[in-house]
Amino acid sequence: AKRLVVLASGGGSNLAALLKAHDDPAYGARVVGVVTDRPGIGALDLARDAGVPSAVVSLKDFDDRAAWNDGVAEAVRVFRPDWVVLAGFMKILAPEFLRRFEGRIVNTHPALLPSFPGAQGVRDALAHGVRVTGCTVHLVDDGVDTGPILAQAAVPVLPDDDEPTLHERIKSAERDLLVDTVGRLAREGVYVTGRRATIGA
Ligand code: GAR
Repeated sequence: AKRLVVLASGGGSNLAALLKAHDDPAYGARVVGVVTDRPGIGALDLARDAGVPSAVVSLKDFDDRAAWNDGVAEAVRVFRPDWVVLAGFMKILAPEFLRRFEGRIVNTHPALLPSFPGAQGVRDALAHGVRVTGCTVHLVDDGVDTGPILAQAAVPVLPDDDEPTLHERIKSAERDLLVDTVGRLAREGVYVTGRRATIGA
């Protein structure tokens, strides 16, 4: 099975879905490590309960952002990933990190990119008044949420939605999309031509 290292900053519902999927040997990938940028979060409890090792790399423990970035890269490297999955990781990683794992980093974003990139994808879509939003799984390049798109799912915005209700509806589509896409990446690989990424083929 391909080795997945998951980076997370929050509750870890996407991580939970990957940890469930990897129990099936046919899935083709296993979460071998979890790295977070803060202690005390749900993603760490999930890792512990699943018997998966984890590391916390907090910005406040480093002299500057460049050193923190190296710390994250080192924490990821020791798990020898085939794929690095950003599943609710809320900090931007520097180009040096991206080069270390070039072409092997996947992010999930709670909007239909290229609309509403950044840290507030759900809030921004709601504020814009769109009637349909969704989630995007994409390869990471050195822009913010700009890398080649691997998969998307649409989710309706309902009249009474606020950010939490809309985000929950997105997340239920998102975990299935992420599990499916990461599994296909692991089993079939990906080819990128310009902006277009094709799994398998
Ligand atoms: C997910 O919806 C993910 O797309 C989003 O954070 C949530 C994490 O949920 N990520 C971003 O907004 C990245 N900019 P989780 O901790 O339950 O997996």
